[in-house]
Amino acid sequence: MRSKLQRDQAISNSLPIGVFDSGVGGLTVLRALVNRLPGEDFVYLGDTARLPYGTKSPASIRQYSLQAARQLHERGVKCLVVACNTASAIALDALTDEFDPVPVIGVLEPGAAAACQATRAGRIAVLATESTVRGGAYQAAITRRRPDAIVTARSCPLFVALAEEGWTDGPIVEGVIHRYLDEIFVAGAAAAHPDTLVLGCTHFPVLAPTLRKVLGPAVAIVDSAETTAASLADILARRGLLRHDQATGTVTLLATDGPERFARVGAVFLGRPLAPADVELVDLAFAQTPSGA
Ligand code: DGL
Repeated sequence: MRSKLQRDQAISNSLPIGVFDSGVGGLTVLRALVNRLPGEDFVYLGDTARLPYGTKSPASIRQYSLQAARQLHERGVKCLVVACNTASAIALDALTDEFDPVPVIGVLEPGAAAACQATRAGRIAVLATESTVRGGAYQAAITRRRPDAIVTARSCPLFVALAEEGWTDGPIVEGVIHRYLDEIFVAGAAAAHPDTLVLGCTHFPVLAPTLRKVLGPAVAIVDSAETTAASLADILARRGLLRHDQATGTVTLLATDGPERFARVGAVFLGRPLAPADVELVDLAFAQTPSGA
């Protein structure tokens, strides 16, 4: 189904790149995208009013993802980056169909690629939200690349809450990590433990130093941010959509609830200070159906 805007609007390389997540987690991806493509303009939407996506049904995740993407598309974007593993796992096909010919890039395939590059023995643990784990998309994306891989997937919904709260270290965080991961990394024979851990949720990279402390130096910890940035650069280059006319682009931040909280917690994820005035509050109510449909 095509929107009116889509039929009328030429995709121009001067348009920004749209990025969305359920909350501030996708800012870990945005950070990598900005580092990789500093001359591009970005508009990021965190659907903070409806976070978390990861405990919702596939139908709700699809609906929320489409509404978030419509908000960005209505503003005019040359590409959409789904900076949420849950939305990438459940809604990527629906997003690709609706916004074609605008390229839509998810983070799940780049995350699976990063895990397969990092593993030595092919034993990979995926940490993600309940919906991502239940859907099995990560497991499938890894075994498609590496059929002999042994993939253990674990949903860690409390990690999302901890990350959104800005609690990234200390005894409580370490206790939660032990509770989720000891059965994978402590129980059983050490030779059977995964050698690679993929952070299959964009909220989890802020917990990486504490995961490293708990798991020790032998486990490779990877996320999809860098590989997603490489995919984005590649797709834009192939479509002639890279912009070359400015050294430094802009970053526009949108949230569906709590700009103050978004700025406070988001600064940790983005790695630079943010003020509430940097975050525009948006309402997705209008984005119920494709315009012109
Ligand atoms: N950041 C989202 C992801 O990458 C999940 C957080 C949530 O449950 O909304 O899956």
